[in-house]
Amino acid sequence: MKILKKSLLLTFSLALPLLAMQAGDVQVRIHADQGKTKINKEIYGQFAEHLGTCIYGGLWVGPDSPIPNRDGYRLDVLNALKELQVPVLRWPGGCFADDYHWMDGIGPKEQRPSLRNNNWGGTIEDNSFGTHEFLNLCELLGCEPYISGNVGSGTVKEMAQWVEYMTSDGDTPMARLRRQNGRDKPWHVKYFGIGNEAWGCGGNMTPEYYANEFRRYNTYLRNQPGNALYRIASGASDYDYNWTRVLMKAIGRRMNAISVHYYTIKDWGNKGKATAFSDEEYYLTLEKCLDVENVIRKHCQIMDETDPQKRIGLMVDEWGTWWDEEPGTVPGHLYQQNSLRDAMVAALMLNVFHKYTDRVRMANIAQMVNVLQAMILTDQKDGGHMVLTPTYHVFHMYKGFQEAVHLPLDLMCHQLTTSEGKTVPALSASAARKADGSLILSLANTDLKEAQTVSIQLDGFTPKNVSGQVLTSKNANDFNDFDHPTNIAPADFKDAKIKKDGLTVTLPSKSIVVLTLK
Ligand code: AHR
Repeated sequence: MKILKKSLLLTFSLALPLLAMQAGDVQVRIHADQGKTKINKEIYGQFAEHLGTCIYGGLWVGPDSPIPNRDGYRLDVLNALKELQVPVLRWPGGCFADDYHWMDGIGPKEQRPSLRNNNWGGTIEDNSFGTHEFLNLCELLGCEPYISGNVGSGTVKEMAQWVEYMTSDGDTPMARLRRQNGRDKPWHVKYFGIGNEAWGCGGNMTPEYYANEFRRYNTYLRNQPGNALYRIASGASDYDYNWTRVLMKAIGRRMNAISVHYYTIKDWGNKGKATAFSDEEYYLTLEKCLDVENVIRKHCQIMDETDPQKRIGLMVDEWGTWWDEEPGTVPGHLYQQNSLRDAMVAALMLNVFHKYTDRVRMANIAQMVNVLQAMILTDQKDGGHMVLTPTYHVFHMYKGFQEAVHLPLDLMCHQLTTSEGKTVPALSASAARKADGSLILSLANTDLKEAQTVSIQLDGFTPKNVSGQVLTSKNANDFNDFDHPTNIAPADFKDAKIKKDGLTVTLPSKSIVVLTLK
């Protein structure tokens, strides 16, 4: 991999006078006196599918397991997830959702039928983790549930009854069945997805056909007193703008949001290894990751045509890296390691989502445990082990962005150019004002080799002190495993100095820094 001569990149959020610039300068100007839109905390959402060991072994081991658990939920994982302030959790799929029949997952466990998980390795699913187990988990985590309903192989009646079962407080047949199964009061269920990837594993439909299906299913999903559903239509795969256009026209008035899925994959036929990659592959990954901004912008433009008031949300309800499965793991279980490169992808993606928070109301990283770009990896040996991935640490460091007011910024840095001619800006930044008046600022130096000194100008804010954390490592392909669980971990950051009109920050190469300014 050869990084060609650096070129300057300027991104301006507003039509403002240019910063005085010289090659090699890295400058950020934050408009702390502006900012209108809150960063929806749901952008920090998660996704847990019945896939591999995400649910079984990852989140759930059952109450009789030798692994320490609370009512069947792994305690180590539960405690680590509580630290992240997970705002919303999507379940049961993914592709699994359109094969899932919820009534198989309620009632006495020994009477629950099993099924073959056709999408994911043919594993036998015993349905021991069902509606009660999921919704109780959300209560333990203090997050909103986001249910994906089965349009592909289910029925309207089945979906309507599921909503009644979960949310009715009346003397209705499904509420009675729920009480019989041990839960008196309904759960609060706000987010409901009507199908998943309807263009693919969710039924291979055309957008026109799906739009009609949405109307039919949506009609029978009744809001129960005190529980209004936020109805999410199954949206496009990344670059399929026609899907969004058709749905906006056909069902724009009936849905609250539409989803889009964006995975950071360069080549579906050759995904590449999670921890063995060249510098060139590293930069190509970041370039693909950053292309999400073009994708979001185009979907937003289409939505603006018929919904200029931005009533309808765009939910990036699956995103993340997708590498080859780790050798020796069960094919179809999508178990992959997670390196500093994945952490960089997470930081860059979150910085993009922040910018579009007026339309992007939710994002759900795929997935929570043991699958794709996971927060946590577990095993079940000798009482169970757990590692927090570099991606987990990014989510932890970024917690303060949840519900903070996004601040526009101008950025000037050099670009790194790959031998394929693809470019990646050397710096990604995002800033927001928290409810207590402090500022939170993220800075990611994508450059594999060079540290960068960033001059930050703050308009309308005078910091008295600055503190923060840095996530970095010697090599971009470093990772955490059960023998080295803290190989990559956040450390206190000391290289930010307050100056007259802002601050100067020296970022190590390939690092992510999050600062709080008070
Ligand atoms: O996250 C893994 C799979 O990716 C999901 O099941 C599906 O919706 C998507 O294609």
